[in-house]
Amino acid sequence: MTHFTARAHTNIALLKYWGKADTTLMLPTTTSISLTLDEFYTDTTVWFDAALVADDVMLDDEVMTGKGYDKVTRFLDLVRDMAGETRYAHVHSANHVPTAAGLASSASAFAALAGAASRAAGLALSPAELSRLARRGSGSASRSIFGGFAQWDRGHDDLTSVAKPLVETIDWPIQLLTVIINDQPKKIDSRGGMQHAKATSPFYDDWVNRSNALVPVMQTAIANHDIDQIGQLAEANALQMHATNATAQPAFNYLTDSSWQVINLATRLREQGISVYATMDAGPNVKLISRPADTEVITAALAEAIPGVVVRTATPGPSIKIVEGDQI
Ligand code: ADP
Ligand code: DP6
Ligand code: CO
Repeated sequence: MTHFTARAHTNIALLKYWGKADTTLMLPTTTSISLTLDEFYTDTTVWFDAALVADDVMLDDEVMTGKGYDKVTRFLDLVRDMAGETRYAHVHSANHVPTAAGLASSASAFAALAGAASRAAGLALSPAELSRLARRGSGSASRSIFGGFAQWDRGHDDLTSVAKPLVETIDWPIQLLTVIINDQPKKIDSRGGMQHAKATSPFYDDWVNRSNALVPVMQTAIANHDIDQIGQLAEANALQMHATNATAQPAFNYLTDSSWQVINLATRLREQGISVYATMDAGPNVKLISRPADTEVITAALAEAIPGVVVRTATPGPSIKIVEGDQI
């Protein structure tokens, strides 16, 4: 049995995906644009084994059960269907990113699983095919097939809802300073949160229209290496996404007082002429879009505002890599 290992990096959306038009095919309501990060990634090894009576799934040396296990086996069923594979699989995964904390572990996880499982099942998928497959595991994973800036076109069916690279190699200074406010699993997962916001927020349709309208504007900002324009668009888009949660019925919230301290700090630093902009996913942790040259002044301000806070520097990361392992 040949086993395959894939390494996929997380990505943070600059224009977000927050809601599904189709929950089975995982078609989003918005086109999203992201930056893949070198700092956070998942390694996943897969091999199929005729001796198994069920899939064996391990995450960080612990047996996966419950909802997390079900997501993986349902995903493996898709791979088995595509490949005519009838055996169950071993899936051994390691997250080099906090799991379920709003730092996009599902993006790196399902991109890595798509890569390793498809190869272990004998499939040789193109990057676009891999992106479509990864999307079925977690929408944000569609973008983690690619390095650098990527765009997931919302599309209208399985074939057209796919990510593509915008700029894979980034030769100008941009980073996401990641402020770790809480690395523990969130109470409301991304899937449930976006579904509830879509179903109940009176502002949801407005969020969709505004987000989709920003796609060409963000593309131009990226092409121009314009960190201020990228940051302004990303911060506004993130706050509008979080506003759909704040206006859901009942309302809910991923951001804490500390998150707001960091968001407000970014505003204050901008008044001093520093290019720093906040973006937040479904969790309290804040990523600060900034230039590497400003790291010291930003981290000093953070340390003063929140003593002892942990900051991890994330620069643009690479596309998925798949390696063949030894025979088992
Ligand atoms: P995040 O902000 O981390 O992406 P989500 O709520 O989107 O949070 O997804 C978290 C879920 O993704 C976990 O509860 C688990 O079901 C799944 N997940 C995360 N890492 C892995 C992994 N390495 N292998 C399989 N599933 C994973
Ligand atoms: C706020 O891709 O984690 O990070 O497709 O249900 O697995 P599922 O959700 P997921 O949602 C990501 C939401 C987000 C924004 C983004 O990454 O675009
Ligand atoms: Co996720």
